[in-house]
Amino acid sequence: MSLLTVSNLTKRYPRGGKSIAAVDDVSFHIDPGETLALAGPSGSGKSTIARLVLRLIEPDAGRIEFEDNDFLALSGASLRARRARLQTVFQDPLAAFNPRATVARVLDDPLRIHGIASRSERPRRIAALLERVGLAAELASRAIHEISGGQRQRVAIARAIATKPSLIVLDEAVSALDVSVRGQILHLLLDLQRQERIAYLFISHDLGVVRAVAHRVILLDAGRIAESGDARAVIDAPRSAIGKALLAAAPRLHRTRP
Ligand SMILES: Nc1ncnc2c1ncn2[C@@H]1O[C@H](COP(=O)(O)OP(=O)(O)OP(=O)(O)O)[C@@H](O)[C@H]1O
Ligand SMILES: [Mg+2]
Repeated sequence: MSLLTVSNLTKRYPRGGKSIAAVDDVSFHIDPGETLALAGPSGSGKSTIARLVLRLIEPDAGRIEFEDNDFLALSGASLRARRARLQTVFQDPLAAFNPRATVARVLDDPLRIHGIASRSERPRRIAALLERVGLAAELASRAIHEISGGQRQRVAIARAIATKPSLIVLDEAVSALDVSVRGQILHLLLDLQRQERIAYLFISHDLGVVRAVAHRVILLDAGRIAESGDARAVIDAPRSAIGKALLAAAPRLHRTRP
């Protein structure tokens, strides 16, 4: 049984008096514990799909089933409960969090909002989350703007796993990090996936990273699926025009490893 099933998803935006499909009749599924990557040129619809799956925006057409629920039909308490199982890590945690908030505060929020731990239990849970993502417990009292980009992305991952999600949407989550930090964060993600069987919808314009971490990949072109399949098979020998163009633009591909 698949974890997430997206069927015929379409999202249109007005442009110049007309409407263009940012996402055009897209269907895919993700199995438990699997990494599905979305790749494609800028403007091909990757982030729009992420926002639709997270229900930050509503589609014009299509269905999203998540953990056997009609996800688009959920509202109120049932939506909140299901949202705990579907988390996200964005590219820039400095923009996603209040930069003056402490690390403890950022991690306390999901535990409190989703009723996961009592007030007295939460400091211990926060320390355990920090340890889980390879950060010292002392970091809890620091402000978000005082820690490094790599540490911030680890805090964002700690926050995402606080509610025990089955799926995490990662939209260019490692793209802003320098190569060595990126490798460490990718290792952490793979480790979490192995241990907790978390699935990832992994969005990246970097085919080398996609090849290294994803099981399957979908290549998007102007909102439509151009090609999909086993990540290594597709990236090593793309059949679509957009796949060939993306590969040609990634000269250092085979040297990129997490
Ligand atoms: N809120 C919006 N209003 C109007 N058009 C939008 C909006 N959001 C996205 N679009 C358009 O939808 C298309 C897909 O955008 P999207 O952000 O999903 O692309 P992307 O693949 O994530 O690109 P990038 O690699 O640059 O992040 C683009 O043409 C974009 O201009
Ligand atoms: Mg994007």
